[in-house]
Amino acid sequence: MIVTTQELFKLAYGHFAVGAYNINNMEQTLGLFQGCVSSQAPFIIQISKGARDYAKVKLLEALIRGAEELYPDAIFAVHLDHGDEAACYDCIDSGFYSSVMIDASGEPFDGNVATTRRIVERAHAKGISVEAELGMLGGVEEHIKVDEKNAMLTDPDEAAEFVRRTGCDSLAVAIGTSHGAYKFKGTQSLHFERLAQIQQRLPGFPLVMHGSSSVPIEEVQRINAAGVKLDPSARGVNEDEFAKAVPLGVVKVNIDTDGRLVWTRVHREFFRDQPEKFDFRDPGKIFIAEYAKFIAHKNEKLGSAGQLAAVRAAVS
Ligand code: 13P
Repeated sequence: MIVTTQELFKLAYGHFAVGAYNINNMEQTLGLFQGCVSSQAPFIIQISKGARDYAKVKLLEALIRGAEELYPDAIFAVHLDHGDEAACYDCIDSGFYSSVMIDASGEPFDGNVATTRRIVERAHAKGISVEAELGMLGGVEEHIKVDEKNAMLTDPDEAAEFVRRTGCDSLAVAIGTSHGAYKFKGTQSLHFERLAQIQQRLPGFPLVMHGSSSVPIEEVQRINAAGVKLDPSARGVNEDEFAKAVPLGVVKVNIDTDGRLVWTRVHREFFRDQPEKFDFRDPGKIFIAEYAKFIAHKNEKLGSAGQLAAVRAAVS
């Protein structure tokens, strides 16, 4: 069942975070639904501009509609990840999306406010909610690349002003995470003190954490043992820190890179160990099962696992 993103946020705030997972193809879609149903978790499907180009808008929509029928217990929202203005309008007008993200965080403050405000007006007129971003996450995500020296934590006072002036419904904050496989070297904690200051200025307001993959060392080691050359010192977010972010207002946690690592590990190992095989369905089946396990594990860490019955009771 597709629900609104705001409904999920209202139920989650202070109790758990909703996993927001990107999909690009059929295998990921099946694994995502299986993992969320087996762990009894509500979730958010994220569709990026890159996914819309790769898998085509119509096919992605059809995949989601099909999965909704195959998994009638699933409760989820559909969200545009990192949209520009044109992609946001397209999704708002399509009537299929629960929410859109406008990422104008690369613009100066007033420009970000003005762009976000335009999207909010158009989206709210159709009952769609808007996530915006303030501050700059480092790393690479599709068309967005921010050098570490230009990455900037979100300023709490600016965050309050931004929300007031734009009327956005949730805010992606920069608190030390970054996109992609190369986030940190060595251990680095999230900036909880910054998150607490933002929450103080915006009590009860839904906050979003992008760049939340954990880039598990065991996964990187297995992938590298199968012939890839990932930097072995790459580290991500400690997934035990999700639980500390929840009481500080984080309701949505974006995870994409870790899922790509699962894909790479499964396929690299499969073809390394069985070089005579060439039917893509063989590793595909393994990937779906491994992806489902991965999703269920993340949902446990986010606290969304086991929440499905309560969410169903509240939305129906
Ligand atoms: P990761 O690259 O850490 O998975 O972050 C994904 C993300 O924030 C999508 O918007």
